[in-house]
Amino acid sequence: MHDFPRNSNRSENREFVLIERNQIIQLTKQRNFWKLNAIQYLFRKLQQKFNRPVFIMLITRYPPTENNSLRAWSAADEYLLKEVQQNSLDKKAVAIFNDRFGYLGCHLHKCNPWHVSDFKSQQISLELNLKRNGVNVESGKFINPLDSLPELIDIAILSIPKSLDLYRFYLNQISRSMAENGIALCGFMTRHFTPQLLSIAEEYFHDVSQSLAWKKARVLTLKEKKESPAYDAVEEIPFTFSDGGNESLKQYPGVFSSGNVDYATQFLLGNLTIQPDENCILDLASGNGVIARAVQLQKPDTEIHLLDDSYLAIASSKLNLSTGNVHFHWGDSLDEIDDTEFDIVVSNPPFHFEHEVNTEISTALFREVAGRLKPGGRFVCVANKHLGYLPTLKKFFTRASIIKENRKFVIYECKKGGK
Ligand SMILES: C[S@@+](CC[C@H](N)C(=O)[O-])C[C@H]1O[C@@H](n2cnc3c(N)ncnc32)[C@H](O)[C@@H]1O
Repeated sequence: MHDFPRNSNRSENREFVLIERNQIIQLTKQRNFWKLNAIQYLFRKLQQKFNRPVFIMLITRYPPTENNSLRAWSAADEYLLKEVQQNSLDKKAVAIFNDRFGYLGCHLHKCNPWHVSDFKSQQISLELNLKRNGVNVESGKFINPLDSLPELIDIAILSIPKSLDLYRFYLNQISRSMAENGIALCGFMTRHFTPQLLSIAEEYFHDVSQSLAWKKARVLTLKEKKESPAYDAVEEIPFTFSDGGNESLKQYPGVFSSGNVDYATQFLLGNLTIQPDENCILDLASGNGVIARAVQLQKPDTEIHLLDDSYLAIASSKLNLSTGNVHFHWGDSLDEIDDTEFDIVVSNPPFHFEHEVNTEISTALFREVAGRLKPGGRFVCVANKHLGYLPTLKKFFTRASIIKENRKFVIYECKKGGK
């Protein structure tokens, strides 16, 4: 728990105290939210004592995590907020890019900012945190990364993503929408610094300065936008499918496995045969849609669904599967898809989110898949060997086994009832 004083010349002069749910759990060693009321009571008392308004904001992660070391915001987010508050925000158009769990959006909600996020889960997280803190959500303020902002922006705030391509893509979007005297503030943890953070920023702005480090974080301040350089966001990845078809897969920046088709995916595709009675398939966590495309080449009439949390991934897969009986779903859960049941679900599931390694998302997806297979249906997925998913899969499926492995990867096949 920590204090976060707002800039004193802001019209609303009150003190914010931000609390992460995980920290409350650590504090109480229990998951009882009545404890939060006790904390609120404490802060009311503090407010009386110091004769100064105090406001508690509870910021939690979505999806939730069992891992108490994973935080809902970073020191880079805190630093960004400190830097933003050096500026007068009155009547300024503000846009927040890549706010992971909604820390920035919640704190800056009074500015009525635009929110640009690639991941549906980011959007859900922000909405949940705003609601939880009693703020009405204006859904029209969410912009996907491929759209232009509807107005010129005075202050752009970017939590720098892991992918440098996506960083460049966001800077391109920011500079296109920036007002003449606008500024962009970009936060990152010092351990993630690379000189390219500066050189890419210099492609778009004349004035690029880097702050001193604070809590192992830094902020870049970008001013005086340049004429945007010509920029083609779509990357082409040549790939030979196992039936011999040569194609160039297209993808937007930040989408999984830039440069080549992931080796785990290649291993899966080399060992995947769709059976004649498998007519409805889900490519789960579909990225650029390479698995769905391989299925389509094997069995062109198949009804294919693709689900991914990343908007840019789904937009990429639309470029790669432009014909056939194909359904695209932007979302982080199978709830995003009506009640379709599948003959087969195929996946190279996520175990990273940005710089974090986290298998909880995969586990949640496995559980959901088990509820969406037709009787006798199967789930085929590939994973790094060290992740050791077999015991987890055995919990959700009637049968689960390893059907193929090499030095690095394993392919699991799981069935629910039936054949
Ligand atoms: C390992 S990549 C696989 C991508 C693609 N199938 C391939 O083989 O190249 C995992 C994908 O999972 C997506 N993802 C992460 N969390 C997700 C979730 N909760 N629901 C759906 N997709 C998710 C990521 O955006 C990423 O595209």
